[in-house]
Amino acid sequence: MEATLNYIKSKLDNFIPETACILGSGLGELADEFSDSIKIGFSEIPGFKRTTIDGHAGNLVFTKLNNKNIVFMQGRYHYYEGHTIKDVVFPIKVLKLLGLKNLIITNAAGGLNQNYTPRTLMIINDHINFTGTNPLIGPNEENMGVRFPDMSEVYNKKLIEKANEIARDLNIHVENGVYIGVTGPSYETPSEIRMFRNFGASAIGMSTVNEAIYANYCGLKVLGISCITNCAAGLSKTKLSHVEVVETANRVKTEFKTLVKNIIQKI
Ligand code: HPA
Repeated sequence: MEATLNYIKSKLDNFIPETACILGSGLGELADEFSDSIKIGFSEIPGFKRTTIDGHAGNLVFTKLNNKNIVFMQGRYHYYEGHTIKDVVFPIKVLKLLGLKNLIITNAAGGLNQNYTPRTLMIINDHINFTGTNPLIGPNEENMGVRFPDMSEVYNKKLIEKANEIARDLNIHVENGVYIGVTGPSYETPSEIRMFRNFGASAIGMSTVNEAIYANYCGLKVLGISCITNCAAGLSKTKLSHVEVVETANRVKTEFKTLVKNIIQKI
């Protein structure tokens, strides 16, 4: 960790990021819009693993948006890639130790709610961790948080309210719902989707929940936004594919980028 922090700080010239935004599948190019930025590849940072998935570049991009110090995570680590769950949350720990306050987590997700269509944007108001693991397993890191963290408000209510307000002002339609996190990499069966709908989930994906658990644990304010890229298994006639996920995310990216940029400026 010391090597990791020293390396990143050596590139930053005392820049302290206040808000981080993890950019999900197909949404990474938002970070490319900022020409005045410091881009650090995951592969050059001591302690960071390589990412392996299309649509996830693997960079930390430090920049400013209207005087707000921000960092984009262009790409993330997924458990299904074979990374440990500690690796998945490692960047969040690093950013927290650099002084981070807010974390915006975005993802591509399948829609379980039948009112959602591909391109729906959903603000996450709670999650169900169905990954069968937890990033806090193991000795507690007393400097980061408590052994048994409360989880009654992982997604910050004020940020949710603000995000809804901003979307309304921009005339961007958003839904609010529960995200269920699974490991993947196989998509779900129709029977699993029926079960998850009965659980009360509105969207499903292979990321986010463990990052949110860690962020909540170490005291970050979290906002989550899902881009619904497809109807979940059994809810439409088409077969699921990662190509469809990335294509839909690409089609919604203008709206998505506008929403995220406005949120970052106003939190
Ligand atoms: N299921 C799980 N993860 C996903 C999906 C899905 O349908 N779409 C995008 N990520």
